[in-house]
Amino acid sequence: MKPLVSCLLAASAWVALLSCASLRKPESSVDFVSQVKPVLERRCLECHNADYVFAGLRMETKDLMMKGGRSGPVIVPGNPDQSLLYKVLLLGHSSPVAMPPTPEGTFEEEKKLLQTWIAQGAEWPEGIQLVPPQNWPSSR
Ligand code: HEC
Repeated sequence: MKPLVSCLLAASAWVALLSCASLRKPESSVDFVSQVKPVLERRCLECHNADYVFAGLRMETKDLMMKGGRSGPVIVPGNPDQSLLYKVLLLGHSSPVAMPPTPEGTFEEEKKLLQTWIAQGAEWPEGIQLVPPQNWPSSR
């Protein structure tokens, strides 16, 4: 191969590599309202709200969630492994404290989502309230 041709080939390969690298996104951040809120409402709110305060834990507002339950805070922002909210998801179903008590569907992805949410600082925008399924409007 002529030196010029191989030089051009090498240059274009380099350009291709660079443009690929610039397309790679950083780990996408979890959005509370569109991603986390529906999971918590569907999986957890039924039993952790004003009417059914199981284990003293209510989850409707950020303040209530951050206050935690009978064992104290359930979320340590930035640290899922220290967060009871995440730890109870990992318990096997032989444990009476496994959450949610009746799992079904693709719960693995939801666990991962909650883990990432806590790891990224458990962001919860001001004023957003969670609604237990029993109080969802029928149109939802
Ligand atoms: C069907 C009702 C029900 C649902 C749904 C439910 N929980 Fe619970 N939760 C309970 C009960 C009951 C306890 C107390 C268990 C025990 O210690 O015997 C509890 C305890 C807990 C605790 C311990 C709180 C403390 O301070 O000790 C955490 C954390 C928790 N739940 C998180 C969750 C999460 C996260 C979800 C959703 C993924 C969830 N729960 C869904 C009924 C429920």
